[in-house]
Parts: sequence; structure tokens; C-alpha cells
Amino acid sequence: MSWVHDFWRSSIGGKTTMAVTGVLLFLFVIAHLLGNLQIFAGPKAINDYAKTLHDLGPLLWVARIGLLAIFVLHVLTAIRLSRANKAARPVAYAKEATVQASFASRSMLLSGLSLLAFVVYHLLHFTVGAVHAEDVALKGANFDVYAMVVASFSRLPVVIAYVGSQLMLFLHLQHGLQSFAQTLGLSHARYTPMIRSLSFFLAAAIAGGNILIALAPTLGLLQKGAA
Ligand code: HEM
Repeated sequence: MSWVHDFWRSSIGGKTTMAVTGVLLFLFVIAHLLGNLQIFAGPKAINDYAKTLHDLGPLLWVARIGLLAIFVLHVLTAIRLSRANKAARPVAYAKEATVQASFASRSMLLSGLSLLAFVVYHLLHFTVGAVHAEDVALKGANFDVYAMVVASFSRLPVVIAYVGSQLMLFLHLQHGLQSFAQTLGLSHARYTPMIRSLSFFLAAAIAGGNILIALAPTLGLLQKGAA
């Protein structure tokens, strides 16, 4: 399997790995948001959705392990590429354009690492129920996701943590989508402004949708009552 490793370590292999894993994570974030938006349809809708996912049983675990592998590969490749970039540049940049590029990649690493911290916190919160354990609510053998979301986002520090991480997600997606277009070779005077606007719109829609959920109890947007 050394050719796989050699490909991954090459510059083009690293960029391809970032693009493919990035797109898969992007699709996950969209699917996850669409699922979670069902909270606005009431307790039954979101809890039935969560139950359907859990009833997948072993299939859910295959998806979870696949998602974890994609996520780890994305993070490790980003760290390797950023190290390789630094090693190739012993002298500071002289041109402004390259300084901007370096700022963008550094902010990608920072927003990416913040998202890594968010995902760990988020899994401990909603998947394991170890963080904010006082908000854990059960419905039969499953979590009462609706009650947990309402209880969690009724507390300001949790809302701030989620909204803050969504701002990081916005920055990361917006730049990541533009980098993806560049990896595909879509860098052209005619396309670039369009790609920039589309990346902005998609990143804002995803982060905005998540923020809307986090603010829903505060804004009184959710139905009262149990599932
Ligand atoms: C306000 C925004 C969000 C809400 C309300 C939310 C809600 C949830 C809930 C309730 C679960 C547990 C599902 C279950 O086990 O029944 C979950 C799992 C998860 N969430 Fe989120 N989520 C949000 C944003 C995000 C974001 C932005 C990401 C990624 C960057 C993310 C990544 C994940 C992952 C990886 C899982 C684990 C999936 C699994 O184990 O099946 N979530 N989320």
C-alpha cells in the first residue's frame, strides 16, 4: 500500500485528499442541517427522525466510522500540508498577494482546529450525553432529542458556544469551497467572482441554519410540549 502513502504525501495527492474529504464533510453538514431543521416541525418529527437513524443499527455504525475516518484524514492532511508549506518557505514573504494567501491558509488551520474542538464538545453533548448531562432526556431507549435541544439552547453559555462555532464553520466553508473550486482548476476571471459569491451564500446558509436552531428557544420559535 506504499503507493497510497506516496500519493497522499505528494502535493497533488494532498490537495486531492483535502478536496474529496472536504466535499464529503460538506455533504454531511448539509444532510445534518436538513435533518435537524425538522425541530421546527415539532417534537414528534425530530424524535422520529432520530429514532429512524438509531434503528439503522449496524449501518449507523458503518456510517459513523466512515465519517470519523474522513474527518481524521481531512485534519491530518491539512496539518501535513501546512507543515510542508512552512518548510518550503524559510524566508518571509515579500509580496502582498502571497502574504494574503498565507493569512487565508493560516485562518483555515485555526478555524479548522476550532471546529475539531467543537465536534468533540458536540459529540460529548448530544451523542454521548456526558457534557451538560443535566439536559439529557430519554424517550424509551433513545434520547428525547427535542427536549435536549430545547433544554441546552435555553442556556446562554451553550448558545454562545454553538453560535461562535458556527461563525468558524462559516469562515471555514466559505474559504474551503473556493479552494475546492481552485483544485478543480476553476480559476478564471469570469468564474472567480461567481464562485466567491456561491461559496459565501452556501456557507452563510449552512451556518445560518444552525444558528437559527441554536437561537430557536430564545426567539420562541419552537412549539411547547413533549413528544
Ligand atoms: C445547531 C446545530 C446542531 C444541532 C442542533 C445538532 C444536533 C445533533 C444531535 C441531536 C446529534 C445526535 C444525534 C443522535 O445521536 O440522535 C448530533 C450528532 C452529530 N453532529 Fe450535530 N448538530 C448541530 C451542528 C453540527 C455541526 C455544525 C456539525 C459538524 C461540523 C455536527 C456534527 C455532528 C456529528 C459528527 C454527529 C454524530 C453523528 C452520529 O453519531 O450519528 N453537528 N448533532
